[in-house]
Amino acid sequence: MALYLDSAIASEAKIVQNWGWVKGITTNPTLLAQAQTPPETTLKTLAALTSGPLYYQLLSSDKQGMITEARKAFDIIGSQTILKIPATPVGFEVVATLSSEITCSVTGIYSPAQATIAKEAGAKIAIAYVNRATRLLGDGIALVQDMANVLKGSGVEILAASIKSQSEAAASLLAGADHLTLPLSMLQAMATHQLSEQTVADFAASGIGLKI
Ligand code: E4P
Repeated sequence: MALYLDSAIASEAKIVQNWGWVKGITTNPTLLAQAQTPPETTLKTLAALTSGPLYYQLLSSDKQGMITEARKAFDIIGSQTILKIPATPVGFEVVATLSSEITCSVTGIYSPAQATIAKEAGAKIAIAYVNRATRLLGDGIALVQDMANVLKGSGVEILAASIKSQSEAAASLLAGADHLTLPLSMLQAMATHQLSEQTVADFAASGIGLKI
């Protein structure tokens, strides 16, 4: 299980690097646009700020363009690269072509059938857009559950993305997601509980500890 930062902002990547419990970074074209540096620079910076995977989403729409772009991303990011390849017919062809060369995830999956094709094509990770699926289909958590059922025993891991609340994050894990990617604010919120703060205050008021 891993938690990832869903962002391309270097200052945010630095914050989670200091925390030590966020295992990698996911990006997409919208997030890369927010970084306001050329994508090559942004990806290099982000790769240096994490020792884990850096997900890069292909923007090209034709097969040869996607393959060329994927290899370019690998040249920039190196062995930390995980490609995010859209769940489209051409995307599945690209996964089948590249999966022995570069680690592939399939992104924007909205059905267990697409998750099955992702597995057959050679993807290592299937990405569910939980909140988008709830908005567009009615139940993003049921999608994660269905994906977990069809992928069971295959070794393909589910990354839950597009998470907008703490309850969506928890429900995704309970439904079978292996990993979560979250914006900085949600990771911060996950680490904080008012009752934990209160408990610390209770012990601080009456406890004894080692002098430092
Ligand atoms: C991450 O991999 C996804 O691109 C991201 O979580 C999508 O989130 P959104 O639905 O808020 O765009």
